Amino acid sequence: MKTSLFAVDPEKFTDRDLDTAAKIIRSGGLVVFPTETVYGIGGDATNSRSAERIYAAKGRPSDNPLIIHVADPADAEPYAVTCPLYYRLAKHFMPGPLTVIMPKKDTIPLTVTGGLDSVAVRCPSHPIANALIRLSGVPIAAPSANISGRPSATCAAHALHDFDGRVDAIIDGGESRFGMESTIVKITGEDSLILLRPGAVTFDALCCVCSDVTVSETVTRMLREDERPICPGMKYRHYAPEKPLALVGGDPDERLRFFRQKQQEGNCIIICYDEQVRFLSPDGIINIGSAADPERQGHLLFSALRLSDELPGDAVYANLPDTEGLGLALYNRLIRAAAHTVIYPRRDPSVN
Ligand code: TXA
Ligand code: MG
Repeated sequence: MKTSLFAVDPEKFTDRDLDTAAKIIRSGGLVVFPTETVYGIGGDATNSRSAERIYAAKGRPSDNPLIIHVADPADAEPYAVTCPLYYRLAKHFMPGPLTVIMPKKDTIPLTVTGGLDSVAVRCPSHPIANALIRLSGVPIAAPSANISGRPSATCAAHALHDFDGRVDAIIDGGESRFGMESTIVKITGEDSLILLRPGAVTFDALCCVCSDVTVSETVTRMLREDERPICPGMKYRHYAPEKPLALVGGDPDERLRFFRQKQQEGNCIIICYDEQVRFLSPDGIINIGSAADPERQGHLLFSALRLSDELPGDAVYANLPDTEGLGLALYNRLIRAAAHTVIYPRRDPSVN
């Protein structure tokens, strides 16, 4: 299959620029498109054949459901059993980086929801994503645009790397603003939610709208072999570079000492903060911004993980984020990318 590449300026485009892409979606094809979180690989969410194509292109197990994307929160009506809490969340966070899971209606094939009787709904704020959905005239099912298990694509070049020849078209709309996928919540009662995947809409922000927000344990811990998570995607290794990644926690000075020691031993890559750069040798470091700027870290995280595969070095080390605010989303992605490998370096007391 030949993949067409369309460059579209998110700040100045007309509906005509997206005509061909919308036609591809309507006729059952696949289009990679930018969103404010990460790029998505999209197909008609009402067409099970499109969903099957998405699973095949991504190499994704078909029991891992897809999010459906709508142009306006109210457009979810024909597809999901909505409720007042959904509209409260929509009023505060949509369009934007929030996905809400609700019971599904028959208009969405079970292929899209991985056999589940619920459906995940998101209304993206990215102008290209929003216009593409509107012009397609159908909700767009779209997982992150990465081969299953790899870091999500946050720019067209990364999507092209994974999907050239596997999709009909890729829309290049520049870099994704947030760089991490949407926050996912499941509505569990009139005024209760469970947070399944943290993102730019933080736990604290959700608590301002809903009085009972529970964080699923699987956000931070490893799943047991036999466990069936509420969010099927959590059971798969995720976001991972091809090289082994370990996270380094504990005291900042001890971390630095550890990174320096690893650099001396050679053959490693360090994903570090601005503040650490001047203490490290410049070879094999990837700076993801200030320790105090989780927004920037989120924006750069997946490209850093992809870059670590391209630089020379056999092992990758990164700082273990704390779990406050947006830190929880960074923690959740990194801990999965590292397959839960965390090192707490301690200074050897025999060494001065
Ligand atoms: O920001 C995003 O959400 C991006 C952009 C493209 O919108 N999409 C995205 O989709 O991250 P994906 O498929 O990579 O991640 C969706 C996650 C998966 O872990 C899946 O298991 C979960 O959402 N999910 C989808 N529908 C669900 C449902 N009905 N019940 C529970 N989990 C669901
Ligand atoms: Mg994904």
